[in-house]
Amino acid sequence: MARIALVTGGTRGIGAAIAKQLKADGCNVAATYAGNDEAAKAFTDETGIQTYKWNVADYEESAAGIAQVEKDLGPIDIVVANAGITRDAPFHKMTPEQWHQVIDTNLTGVFNTVHPVWPGMRERKFGRVIVISSINGQKGQFAQVNYAATKAGDLGIVKSLAQEGARAGITANAVCPGYIATEMVMAVPEKVRESIIGQIPAGRLGEPEEIARCVSFLAADGSGFINGSTISANGAQFFV
Ligand SMILES: NC(=O)c1ccc[n+]([C@@H]2O[C@H](COP(=O)([O-])OP(=O)(O)OC[C@H]3O[C@@H](n4cnc5c(N)ncnc54)[C@H](OP(=O)(O)O)[C@@H]3O)[C@@H](O)[C@H]2O)c1
Repeated sequence: MARIALVTGGTRGIGAAIAKQLKADGCNVAATYAGNDEAAKAFTDETGIQTYKWNVADYEESAAGIAQVEKDLGPIDIVVANAGITRDAPFHKMTPEQWHQVIDTNLTGVFNTVHPVWPGMRERKFGRVIVISSINGQKGQFAQVNYAATKAGDLGIVKSLAQEGARAGITANAVCPGYIATEMVMAVPEKVRESIIGQIPAGRLGEPEEIARCVSFLAADGSGFINGSTISANGAQFFV
């Protein structure tokens, strides 16, 4: 039987590559997004993957959306908490609004995505929880106090979930991408991007497909003993 996979923020960037990879792996995939209907439609037209719109920062919306996915496709076996945003500013200029937006989406959003599927995974004695963290959650980053806090928080989430889920056949792992060529990174000024590339020993940005490979590995039925771990994919930019 095909595994059912949910990828939040799965219509663009890294999430889209993950959704496509999981489909290629034989999963039945649902991809979510926040508001960009045009990108979501283009994604479905290209891939045939069904999309759903809800705000991961809202628990009720997430729970209702997940219930709809499960009604349409069946119980979710693999959940990839990928949706994320940046609201960068040096700390002395960071507003409480910028702090809360990023915490609500990137950190509370992971709770809102995983919590509704967790009881079903426990009952069925199988689950794969994969959270997309970041190199900047491992090392911190200028002007990203909010973002780095959420991405470091992701690592605490998976290490704790791993211990709670292990006996129930559920694994929880994180992937920490370095700088990947998505709209999030291409939106930074070219000069800044060039200086980022200068700090990457590989001499290039990563590709979304290279993150999708990590997820594919962690999501596999045969990866049951890999639990609470973090895979770094950053072109040798940073070692934990
Ligand atoms: N790009 C990088 O270099 C990089 C590096 C390390 C970690 N990451 C992490 O990887 C993940 C994906 O990044 P990306 O660069 O692929 O991002 P992206 O290209 O900006 O795509 C973000 C996706 O998340 C969705 N999304 C955003 N806020 C949401 C919300 N509140 N509720 C539901 N969906 C929401 C977007 O939906 P819409 O299309 O509707 O806006 C979109 O599908 C993020 O968690 C990011 O922090 C990225």
